[in-house]
Formats: sequence, C-alpha cells, structure tokens
Amino acid sequence: MKKIFFLGAGKMATAIAGGLVKSRLCTSSELAAFDVNGAACAAFTAATGVAAVSLEKMTEFDVLLIAVKPQMLADALKPLGGKLEKKLIVSIAAGVPIARIVELTGSSRIVRVMPNTPALVGQGASAFAAASGAEEEDIDLVRQILSAVGIAYQVRECDLDAVTGLSGSGPAYVFEFIQALADGGVAEGLPRDIATKLAAQTLLGAAQMVLETGKHPNELCDAVTSPGGTTSRGLELLAERAFHAAAMQAVRAAAKRSRELGS
Ligand SMILES: NC(=O)c1ccc[n+]([C@@H]2O[C@H](COP(=O)([O-])OP(=O)(O)OC[C@H]3O[C@@H](n4cnc5c(N)ncnc54)[C@H](OP(=O)(O)O)[C@@H]3O)[C@@H](O)[C@H]2O)c1
Repeated sequence: MKKIFFLGAGKMATAIAGGLVKSRLCTSSELAAFDVNGAACAAFTAATGVAAVSLEKMTEFDVLLIAVKPQMLADALKPLGGKLEKKLIVSIAAGVPIARIVELTGSSRIVRVMPNTPALVGQGASAFAAASGAEEEDIDLVRQILSAVGIAYQVRECDLDAVTGLSGSGPAYVFEFIQALADGGVAEGLPRDIATKLAAQTLLGAAQMVLETGKHPNELCDAVTSPGGTTSRGLELLAERAFHAAAMQAVRAAAKRSRELGS
C-alpha cells in the first residue's frame, strides 16, 4: 500500500486513518499526520495508533490527504510549496474545487472527495471526482481508502453539489427523522430511550434491506403494507403532509446552497 500523510488530524482524518488500520489496508507505520493542534494530534494517535509528526516528514509519503477545514486550506498548504507537484493529492475539504487545489499544490494528480460523518463509525457514503491528471491507479487507491470507512462512488466534479445535498447533508435529515419517530413513540407512551433505539434500528434495518436485497424501495414498502392496515394509515398521513416532496426538496435546497458556496 502507498504511504499516506494526513494534513489535519481531526475527526475525518481520524475516521479514515482508523478505518485503514482496522481493515488492515495499511499498517500504522504507512500512515502519519500533521496537525497544528496538539490535542487533536494526541486524540488521533490514541484512536488510530498512527503517529503525529512534523510537516517536513510529508516528503517521505506518496499521498497527501488534505483534511483541514476549507478556510484553513491555503495556509496549511503554504509551507509545502514546491514539494507537491508529483504527489497524489486527495482533498476532503468541502466545496473546494479541483482547479483551486491544482493552483495551491501544483499537482495535477488530484482527487476531490465528499465524505459524510457516518464514516466515523465505518458506515460512510462518499463520492469522489478525479482531475484529468489523476491516473487510474490513483483512482483505485482513493476508492480503496474510502471503502475502508463505507461505500464510495466516482462521479463528475459537477455532481459533487448533488452528493453534498444528498449524502453529505443527509445524516442530519435522518437524525431529524429518527427524532420525529421517537417523539411519536414517546407521545404514544414509550420510554424515551427505548423509542430512540427502536427508531434508529428501524432506519438501520430498512436501509440494510435496500442495500442487501437490491429491491426498489417501493417494492419493499408494498411488502409491509397490508390493505386497510396500520402501515397504510401511516403512509396516507405522510402523503397528505407531502413527506416525499419535502425530503426531495431538502436535498435540492442543500445542493443549491452547495453550488452558491462554491461559486
Ligand atoms: N465532518 C464532516 O462531516 C465532514 C463531511 C464532509 C467533509 N468534511 C471535510 O473534512 C475536512 C475535515 O473536517 P473535520 O470535521 O475532520 O475537521 P476538524 O475535526 O476540525 O479537523 C481539522 C483539523 O485541522 C487542524 N488544522 C487547522 N489548521 C491547520 C494547518 N494549517 N495545518 C494542519 N492542521 C490544521 C485543526 O486544528 P484547529 O482545530 O486548532 O483549527 C483540526 O484539528 C473539512 O475540510 C471538511 O470540509 C467534513
């Protein structure tokens, strides 16, 4: 496996490095990180077994994985000026276009990634776009890295705003839905902790059915809806309140905002 250097050792870097070590794709000695924040370095090493090192060590690595906040990106890359032209650069910085990363690093081997927070528990949904200068081998490597913390699809760069609206912002919509289901259960007399766990597991189980059976969600929905039964009543109410349209519009509004922020 190629040696990967993380610029920024925060939450996402910890999730990805941890996933790589846990899945045995990399040994901890094939990874390292640099972060300006001592507490973040300590937490990163404690969680992953990977060393936090000085920035100069980056030259010994094949891949630079940028995991600082977008507004920190230019400053974080400045000390590496002139040392990145030949490296594969993987950026998870939300909203920063490939063209900007080329400008800041001088490398044409860029892969831009939109991960999501469930990567923190190994259940991420990521999409990535590659610059024309990225080689097939680079793309395979990025797919392997992201697959260590979930699923990953290659898309066009222009599709990353849609990905942001769907899987990037999506966990928040799902948390909201879990909260609403649990509130309904509590209103019907269930204890809060049981209601929350039942709601979360219901989403997890239903999601697993979609992924494992490959069946269309409509087909799975029909299979649990008996004529005149309880589920039919619940679905009727969701239809009356335009639940489906609201969820669609949430994705589209977030994608629109992502486009605005990127322009
Ligand atoms: N978390 C998500 O859900 C999510 C989803 C998709 C994409 N992303 C992207 O992932 C990236 C990382 O996010 P995160 O949530 O992991 O952020 P984070 O936990 O705040 O980690 C970023 C780390 O970088 C450090 N840092 C700041 N300036 C630096 C510099 N010049 N050199 C080295 N390290 C520096 C920060 O230190 P200080 O705290 O002291 O500034 C912090 O420890 C972001 O670009 C974000 O857009 C995150």
